[in-house]
Formats: sequence, structure tokens, C-alpha cells
Amino acid sequence: MVKAIDAFKEKKQTLGLVPTMGALHKGHLALVKKALKNNDKVVVSIFVNPTQFDNKEDLVKYPRTLEQDVALLRSVSEDAILVYAPTVEDVYAGNTVSETFDFDGLEFEMEGKFRIGHFDGVGTIVKRLFDIIKPDKAYFGEKDFQQLAIIKKLVEKHHIPVTIVPCPIYREPSGLAMSSRNTRLKPAYKEAAPFIYKTLETAKTLFGTKSANKVSQWVEKQFESHSLLKLEYFIIADASTLKTVKRKSNKKAYRAFIAVYADDIRLIDNIALN
Ligand code: PAF
Repeated sequence: MVKAIDAFKEKKQTLGLVPTMGALHKGHLALVKKALKNNDKVVVSIFVNPTQFDNKEDLVKYPRTLEQDVALLRSVSEDAILVYAPTVEDVYAGNTVSETFDFDGLEFEMEGKFRIGHFDGVGTIVKRLFDIIKPDKAYFGEKDFQQLAIIKKLVEKHHIPVTIVPCPIYREPSGLAMSSRNTRLKPAYKEAAPFIYKTLETAKTLFGTKSANKVSQWVEKQFESHSLLKLEYFIIADASTLKTVKRKSNKKAYRAFIAVYADDIRLIDNIALN
């Protein structure tokens, strides 16, 4: 991979990176297509990064479909995509631990409260990928909005010469945000899961006239009576600091964030509120 990258750089070709954990779906392909439009070559990394999993079972059960992923990528481009699918040993060389990062507090909000060590793991692998691939641009989905904010912070604090390109959430026709974990949903849960986005949409409408607290209470109530979906958190936060809103100001951008368990599968989603 390093040799291939050096050859591109020598020819002054621009390079895009789409970091993934595989089990590619249309959301990933949208990132890849965008990257192909803006760059001469695109590296898609496929690596289920162990250090970002706070839950062992989630790591073991995470779908791994490399052959299918490569076939999908080949259907997008025959010659402009390189797949980088390292082993754990390649990346961590026998020392599978995270670096410790300071993301100016972004790492302590939401996902950071419920997935201890998760963002250190993400920071470690993404920094490593930037180091190996040296992309001009890197593409990340807004479904993991907090991850995106943290990666922007990583790049800023470590002076990494890469442009981070955010990409909108890709949804199934039902509204369910696309995720590799969706393939693990049993039929009844798959049918129930679009309730998450429907609730976010209503929350957005309510936020027009009601306080963040009132909207949060309303959302919590919707899930109390739901037989299949269990709410982990619903938070309305400042879109740049990710801190929970206390009092609304019309000068700020707000976003609602949600994490829900469908059986043992954890789903997250978010929506811009203004
Ligand atoms: O969003 C993901 O799939 C992962 O967190 C990433 C960015 C590929 C790092 O492992």
C-alpha cells in the first residue's frame, strides 16, 4: 500500500480515503462515489478496529464480508479504488491498545459516556490510517456526527494535512439510518427501527416551539411504551460543542442525538434541528 501511495504521489495524483469497518452498504458507496468525483484515486480501508469496541460481543458479532465488499467496490470503479484491508497484527503489531487523546471535551459527551474508550480507539486507527495513506481528503458520514467532530479535532490538534469531508446520512426508504449493524436486526426489530427516525423528525418539529427539556421528556415517553426499542439516550446539543442545551439561543445550531437498543443491537441516529 505504501508503495502504491508513493507512486500516486509521484504522479501528483490526488488521493481520497474512505475509512470503513466493511459490511459495505449504500451509505458507504455514496461516500466512495463522492470521493471518486473529487480525487484521482480512492483508498477504501476495511478494518474492524478492535480498540474502538467497548463491547466484546459487538466486536465478535460485527459483520465481516470482505469478498462481497470488494465486489461492490468493483461495481463502482474497476481501476480507481484501492482496498486496504490490514490484519490486526499489521495495524497494532502485537500491541492492540489505543493512544490516549484530548479532544477538548468532545469525547466526554454522548457516545463517550456510554462507550468508554471508544473515541481513543477511533482516534488511534484514523490517525494511523492518515499516516499510512496520506490522503488529500477523507470522507466521513454524519450518522456518526460526534465521531466526525472528533476527527476534525484530531486533524486540527495534530496538524494533519488532510481535508475532512462530511457526508449526509444515507437512509433506507423507511427512514432508518443505514448501518452495517442493520443486517443483524431480526425482522420484528427491523420493522420497529424506523420509529427512531420518525421520533427524531417529530422532535425537530416540537423543538420549534418547545424547550429542549420538554422535547427530551416527550421522546423519553415515546420509548417508555415501546415494546421492542429501548432508549439509551436522547440529547439535544449544540452542534459545535456537543454540549447538552440548557437554554436555546437562535444564534446557535442545534442537533438531536439518539441511541437505542433494538434487542442487543445498538443503533444511533441524529438530526439537525435548525
Ligand atoms: O465509522 C467507522 O466505521 C469507524 O469508526 C472508522 C472511522 C472506520 C474507524 O474505525
